[in-house]
Amino acid sequence: MAVTSTEFWDRIAPGYSKQPVADSESYARKLATTQALMRPDMQVLEFGCGTGSTALEHAPHVTHIVATDVSAAMIGIAREKADHAGIDNVSFKQSGVEDFNAADGSFDMVLALNLLHLLPDRAAALAKVHQLLKPGGIFISSTVCLADRMWFLRPVIPLMQWIGKAPYVNFLKADDVMGEIATAGFEQQEHWTHGRANSLFLVCRKT
Ligand SMILES: C[S@@+](CC[C@H](N)C(=O)[O-])C[C@H]1O[C@@H](n2cnc3c(N)ncnc32)[C@H](O)[C@@H]1O
Repeated sequence: MAVTSTEFWDRIAPGYSKQPVADSESYARKLATTQALMRPDMQVLEFGCGTGSTALEHAPHVTHIVATDVSAAMIGIAREKADHAGIDNVSFKQSGVEDFNAADGSFDMVLALNLLHLLPDRAAALAKVHQLLKPGGIFISSTVCLADRMWFLRPVIPLMQWIGKAPYVNFLKADDVMGEIATAGFEQQEHWTHGRANSLFLVCRKT
């Protein structure tokens, strides 16, 4: 019964696209913080864009966004949303972080929202973000840190994964994530956490 993470995300994509934002106040703060750092000439990359809502919100503030996700179903819905909204400066592309390739220093800003805790190899992902950013480029992440307050879920998750109700997920601590991001060569500009899952919103720059 166990499913791969890609199968999991493909299967839940239609429902995910209809879910209301869980914490609208925090979401609005994240959008505002990100848009305050955006400039009209920027090239932006988003990893794990899901059904594209955030990329489409940011699209009017930059030149172009490449928005990627491992799930073809998520990307299909994202493209429909972009067509419906008449937004043509976002290119949606089906790709895992692991498989994505572009020239070094291609982007002014990289976003990874609700993603890092889902990746088996965070160090490799952070190295890729660093490589893809221009010098001084901005990395913005939002990462669920289950080990801080929801450690009691740890024995439950493998069972949920086995019946196809949970994806691959790491139990992270916010302090550890900040340490890993610093080790990868980023200088922290701003961070705050929110919610029961202690989601860590972090803005940093490539040093
Ligand atoms: C929790 S959702 C977050 C979606 C969106 N960023 C948001 O904040 O609503 C996680 C997304 O990451 C994608 N994902 C999972 N593993 C991935 C990987 N290795 N590479 C790229 N995307 C991945 C999933 O398909 C899913 O759309």
